Amino acid sequence: MKIGFLTSGGDCQGLNAALRGVAKTLFGAVPYVEIYGIHDGYAGLINCNWRKMEQHEFSGILREGGTILGTSRQPFKTIRNSDDNKDSKSPDKLTTMVRNYHRECFDALVILGGNGTHKTAHALSQSGINLVTLPKTIDNDLFGTDYSFGFDSAVSKAAYVLDTLHSTAASHGRIFVCELMGRKAGWVALHAGLAGGADVILLPEIPYSLDSVLEVIEKRNHSGKNFSIIAIAEGAIKKELVGHNRGERKAGDVSPGMQLVRDLEERLNQDVRLTIPGHFQRGGEPTPHDRVFCSRLGAMAGELVLQRQFGNMVALQGNTIGAVPLSEVAGKLRTIPLDNELLKQARLLGISLGD
Ligand code: F6P
Repeated sequence: MKIGFLTSGGDCQGLNAALRGVAKTLFGAVPYVEIYGIHDGYAGLINCNWRKMEQHEFSGILREGGTILGTSRQPFKTIRNSDDNKDSKSPDKLTTMVRNYHRECFDALVILGGNGTHKTAHALSQSGINLVTLPKTIDNDLFGTDYSFGFDSAVSKAAYVLDTLHSTAASHGRIFVCELMGRKAGWVALHAGLAGGADVILLPEIPYSLDSVLEVIEKRNHSGKNFSIIAIAEGAIKKELVGHNRGERKAGDVSPGMQLVRDLEERLNQDVRLTIPGHFQRGGEPTPHDRVFCSRLGAMAGELVLQRQFGNMVALQGNTIGAVPLSEVAGKLRTIPLDNELLKQARLLGISLGD
């Protein structure tokens, strides 16, 4: 069996742990398996950039951050365009990938990625490529799985930042706005906000009012708590902006966190500071929880390959790791449903969601 592995899209913690899980399962089950590492995501499949990997290369990487294969973003909307490096008469990227797969006589691909990656994986699968995917993204916004790997590690990093801000905020009596990743989904901000004791959590799913945020700060000040911590998701939006360029931030636009700081400064006679942990949330080691999760997903992905159950993403549903057809995953965004329990419980805990 000749299997190609690739990691695509933004990196996150746990990619290596998941690769290791699949490799261990495959090497352990069949003596004649060959694994090829395809470099830098779909770009490697387009440009035939791969190499045969030895079993020992998958050892000692359980805790390693990033991806040993490298990664890149290949926006789905461009996969029907020709390769960027070639003239417009050359075949489109999808056709090139299918051709390269067959020329190299791969038996299957194992693809680790998030939303964009899954759209392309689905298109490849529909073009006859045998493949199995694993749900990777700190944003936790993939359909078909309760959690994606990388999320727990990112939440842990973000919560650490919020924890750390408390002492300096309290010492100076300041308002801290902490802008967290997650694109159009608020999962990271919601979980980190809860874990890190935020007073206000602003999410893309619940447009916020500045007056509500000010009310929380003023109430806290009156009760003798002269500092406040606000966790704001990078996709959060003010009520009055709903319908205007939602989620379509252009280069040079002020970030939602920065905008909130400016708005608060205009209305408050108190110091306001902004913290953006950014890619810190995606870097470094996976948490033990993610390591276990990635290992379970990897084992299941290996099993699906061996059983030739292609066209599936491995997923967590309840406490069980199973398989979900790519047609049920690709192109669907999993934001926080408004009836999600955590939202209710956050409110019961006195956390403002800014509405
Ligand atoms: O999708 C993961 C993610 O980290 C988002 O949370 C964030 O908006 C984006 O990627 C950042 O992308 P890049 O690494 O390309 O700057």
